[in-house]
Amino acid sequence: MERKEFVEACLRFLKESRNYSSLDDEILRKSITFVLSSEMPLMKKLDKVKSTRSKFFKEVLSKAKARLRKQALVYFPSEAKSPSLKERKEIPEPVLNEISRINPRRFVDLGCGLNPLFFPYSRFSVERYLAIDINKQIVKKANDFFQSKGIQGEAVAADIKAFNFDEVFDVAFLFKLLDLVDDSGHKKAEMIFTALKAKMIIISFPTKTLSGKSMTFSRRTWVEKMLSRLKHQFKIIETENEVFYVVSFLGRAN
Ligand SMILES: C[S@@+](CC[C@H](N)C(=O)[O-])C[C@H]1O[C@@H](n2cnc3c(N)ncnc32)[C@H](O)[C@@H]1O
Repeated sequence: MERKEFVEACLRFLKESRNYSSLDDEILRKSITFVLSSEMPLMKKLDKVKSTRSKFFKEVLSKAKARLRKQALVYFPSEAKSPSLKERKEIPEPVLNEISRINPRRFVDLGCGLNPLFFPYSRFSVERYLAIDINKQIVKKANDFFQSKGIQGEAVAADIKAFNFDEVFDVAFLFKLLDLVDDSGHKKAEMIFTALKAKMIIISFPTKTLSGKSMTFSRRTWVEKMLSRLKHQFKIIETENEVFYVVSFLGRAN
């Protein structure tokens, strides 16, 4: 099989599956080509593949699916088995207290998942809640929710790596997202963080592994080093399953 034909055949299989059909073709293609390119032994077998029933085809397909799940691109929290992917249902009180300090009205929630469904809107005078997620199913759920509750919210399906961050916000949430945006290193994560215009940015990470075990070192040293290098003050709040970095910089958004 030609590489292109192979990729398109894999793509068709992914599109037929409910869990993957809500992702853009380009994202699915990327995952397939990543598996092909990162594994030379797989590449060598490509010309021997005659049909989609071949063992090799199935192997690539399952690796592409695993990659999408690992990036949490195929993400349905209520179905998630791992506490690191399950929704938290509420933002912890100490984090909400930090948010309250700046009396915010404009929120942006990146890689929102189902977070918009659990946000305590009544605690704040919300003028705008922009929720961004790459998964169209999640975006639809959030928009349906905003509409049914009359919340000034908007959910947008987009890849935050290619998002235009011109709008200014009071608070930006980067909950359980930054681990997922880079294949190696933290360049894209830093690019997203520095592009955001907000008075307060809250970054969080799961502190449990996919199998549910507590991580030996739950804090993310790379974030702490990045924030110190960029000369930002931050506060750490740890809960049972998550670590939050609250970075406030009044002035940056102006
Ligand atoms: C682990 S979940 C966290 C969800 C939510 N922020 C929370 O804390 O419960 C990661 C979310 O980020 C989304 N996501 C992953 N990569 C993304 C990207 N490049 N652009 C936009 N959303 C992304 C996934 O679809 C998923 O909903």
